Amino acid sequence: METDIIFEPLKFRTLTVKNRILRSSISGRWDNYDGSGTQARINWEEKFARGGVGAIISSFVPVSIRGRIIPNYATIDCDERIPFWRKVGEKVHDYDCKFILQLSHSGRQQDVGGVENLERKPLSSTSSTEPLHGFPCQAMTLHEIKDTIQDFADGARRAREAGLDGVELHSANGYLITQFLSSGINDRTDEYGGSLENRARFLLDIIRAIRKEVGNDFHLQFKISAIEHNNAVTFWEKKGNTLDESIQICKWAEEAGADAIHVSVGSLFPHPLNPIGDFPFEIIRKTYDAMISSGIYTFRNYLLFRYWLLRPIFSLLWNRTKKSLPPQPISGEKVEDETIKKLLDAYQGVNLRESREIKKHVNIPVLCTGGFQQASYIRKAIEDGFCDGVTIARPLIANTDLAKHFQQGHDLPPVPCTYCNKCLLNVIENPLGCYELSRFDGDYEAMMQKVMSVFEPNL
Ligand SMILES: Cc1cc2nc3c(=O)[nH]c(=O)nc-3n(C[C@H](O)[C@H](O)[C@H](O)COP(=O)(O)O)c2cc1C
Ligand code: SF4
Repeated sequence: METDIIFEPLKFRTLTVKNRILRSSISGRWDNYDGSGTQARINWEEKFARGGVGAIISSFVPVSIRGRIIPNYATIDCDERIPFWRKVGEKVHDYDCKFILQLSHSGRQQDVGGVENLERKPLSSTSSTEPLHGFPCQAMTLHEIKDTIQDFADGARRAREAGLDGVELHSANGYLITQFLSSGINDRTDEYGGSLENRARFLLDIIRAIRKEVGNDFHLQFKISAIEHNNAVTFWEKKGNTLDESIQICKWAEEAGADAIHVSVGSLFPHPLNPIGDFPFEIIRKTYDAMISSGIYTFRNYLLFRYWLLRPIFSLLWNRTKKSLPPQPISGEKVEDETIKKLLDAYQGVNLRESREIKKHVNIPVLCTGGFQQASYIRKAIEDGFCDGVTIARPLIANTDLAKHFQQGHDLPPVPCTYCNKCLLNVIENPLGCYELSRFDGDYEAMMQKVMSVFEPNL
């Protein structure tokens, strides 16, 4: 029998993952205010390990308290956090699944600042206010840059001491490292701003500092927004980094000691292209209130979301880049259900083209994120050299056992993810889970039971 490339081991320099399906980062607010973790997070990660993915990339894990997006995410800012992450790793390892911790810093992109930022502005590469929500910020001094680089290195050391299998730098989607990389955001005039070489210095310094701290035999990958589309919504801003610039950054990062690249898109989060899909106003009008005091434009946005007469203004801005996307480069097996077929055609493999271009220029494995949920499509993407493995977030929230479905020979899960993004827009206020009622045949109680199951071990 021919072997299925999806279930062939994925070999990184110092780490082997049993298959090509990795769970992409998905953050949920269920830890303690001080950054200590809870049983709910262990239960959450166990679901995916049990469901058959080869590796889990953790939630956004702040390397310092000032670098949180929102309170109630488990952190890795001090040695006291090591035992919790050891527990998470051990649980996941029970299923022969690897665990990669996402080392992160929000910079100015802070949805709900904690008490740590009540009396001071969040740190960034720039002092310019973030343009969509109006988050204020303060450009880091050279001293603060050096301290933050060390925070990342300490985070990697703690991940290693916790027995985890590697780390991923969250250098995508508008968080602190993007704020340095981006030609649309970084307006510094010192050695960390200006030319591409200078803008990449922060990321490369972090990679080198991690290598110095943990040595060469610990897996280190980074996530990058291959194209930033920094003006996707706020059209008056600069475009941000191009694919060619990102390819150069990837080449430098490989030289500096990175073991793999994870390809994403967009210089903010969420972005019209990430996670690609709908923008459900009926959800955001109920959850965005948690952010109203966070930025100077948040009240304006809340009105745009709240009143249906104003919504077309926001929809126009949100969808304009999505509409100009070229067709997806490959397609999977024929799908009978017209609705699902349309969704897959529109959203599956949204970053594949960029992933293939990056892969042509580096010698380390390339992972790609964005819309994957069909076995035949994923198989073809890997076989045709677009990527070495895929990372999946929402289709795994919808079906945590997606990998097992593929292994049993199914091309799609029985009730696929609809890319409605209700999980995403609920997460600011509510437990992370699938909130698409149509997937539960309209049974609200059944949906809630599934969402709340994260608080019950072994469900
Ligand atoms: C609720 C939610 C939370 C997310 N949190 C993170 C995160 O903390 N770090 C990150 O790099 N990406 C995060 N993402 C992006 C995903 O990891 C993934 O790259 C993106 O959703 C595209 O994949 P998908 O189409 O399979 O969902 C999140 C996505 C969702 C839906
Ligand atoms: S709410 Fe459910 S169906 Fe909708 S995008 Fe999230 S996981 Fe998919």
